[in-house]
Amino acid sequence: MKHTGTINISTERLQLRRFYKEDADDCFNNWMVDEEVYEFLSASPKDRKYIEEWLSCADEVYAKNDTYYWAIVEKESGKTVGEIFVNDYSEKNRVAELWWTVGSHFKSKGYATEAAKAIVSHLFNEVGFHRVWAKCVDGNIGSERVMQKCGMEKEGIMREYFYDDKTGEYKDLVVYSVINQTHRG
Ligand SMILES: CC(C)(COP(=O)(O)OP(=O)(O)OC[C@H]1O[C@@H](n2cnc3c(N)ncnc32)[C@H](O)[C@@H]1OP(=O)(O)O)[C@@H](O)C(=O)NCCC(=O)NCCS
Repeated sequence: MKHTGTINISTERLQLRRFYKEDADDCFNNWMVDEEVYEFLSASPKDRKYIEEWLSCADEVYAKNDTYYWAIVEKESGKTVGEIFVNDYSEKNRVAELWWTVGSHFKSKGYATEAAKAIVSHLFNEVGFHRVWAKCVDGNIGSERVMQKCGMEKEGIMREYFYDDKTGEYKDLVVYSVINQTHRG
């Protein structure tokens, strides 16, 4: 594979780029404190201190050429409205797991899909990944729609894989993936 790290990617309505310390206000105002964002996640809303500490490590993290962690920036307003990143990857198998978040004030505009399509294309065509996949809790319809709209196919469910400590229940995870067709034949 040919690692590129988190290079700038421009789409019709979005700029995908690395995070900077200056994103703290937007992270705070637009999504990281947003209760709705955490409905299907085990994580909880963050506070200002957490966000600033997290961003203070950015230079170190982005110095690695295999960090794939983009801020989703709305071109029209210049606001950072979410994130899209490779959660985990295997060099040997050329498999990457993608994860995305868009603040609830900016949802259902197609932003996560637009970002996911661009990142899948980058990971396939520029980096050389063979398989990109994503998972979400069954019932997270918005995320499942993003998976479908960015070309992923449903593989199945991981039964009761996720313990939801907010409700005290085990929940199924839905798994989707897309294969790099240029690696065929
Ligand atoms: C999931 C998430 C990333 C979607 O972002 P987004 O920018 O709104 O996504 P898009 O607009 O590209 O597509 C979402 C689609 O799901 C639909 N949708 C969203 N919530 C829905 C719901 N509760 N019921 C039915 N449809 C829903 C939207 O209407 C849209 O539909 P469309 O395909 O007809 O246009 C965003 O809602 C989010 O960050 N959620 C919380 C964090 C999270 O769950 N991340 C995923 C972890 S796997």
